[in-house]
Amino acid sequence: MRVHKDPNCGCCEAWVQHVRAAGFVASVTETRTINRLKAELGVPKDLHSCHTAEIDGYVIEGHVPAQEIRRLLLERPAATGIAVAGMPIGSPGMEIPGSAPERYEVVLFGANRRIEIFARYRGHDRT
Ligand code: CU
Ligand code: CU
Repeated sequence: MRVHKDPNCGCCEAWVQHVRAAGFVASVTETRTINRLKAELGVPKDLHSCHTAEIDGYVIEGHVPAQEIRRLLLERPAATGIAVAGMPIGSPGMEIPGSAPERYEVVLFGANRRIEIFARYRGHDRT
């Protein structure tokens, strides 16, 4: 997996540790023009988070739980990738001690602005 991150962001690093702990091999590239890269990779603006990763022909945007990446690679749907928009508290890499984990969705995005729910989560747990 190739992870692109802004040099000034720390939660991306925590997410990289999460995917590595789950068994993925990840290399990290720092870029100051991450928004341009997101546009090139086809990440819709309303799904933007901090880091953007590439694996096996798919784009992974934001704090996506590692098990959903594994499922994506297994099911191989026709899509550009999956995303967790923003920075939900309690998502992998966004754990804040003492703060309750938020609910969020992992969405599948693709051509023609098509967006589908891939999974629902609260923190690290699928709901
Ligand atoms: Cu982040
Ligand atoms: Cu970050």
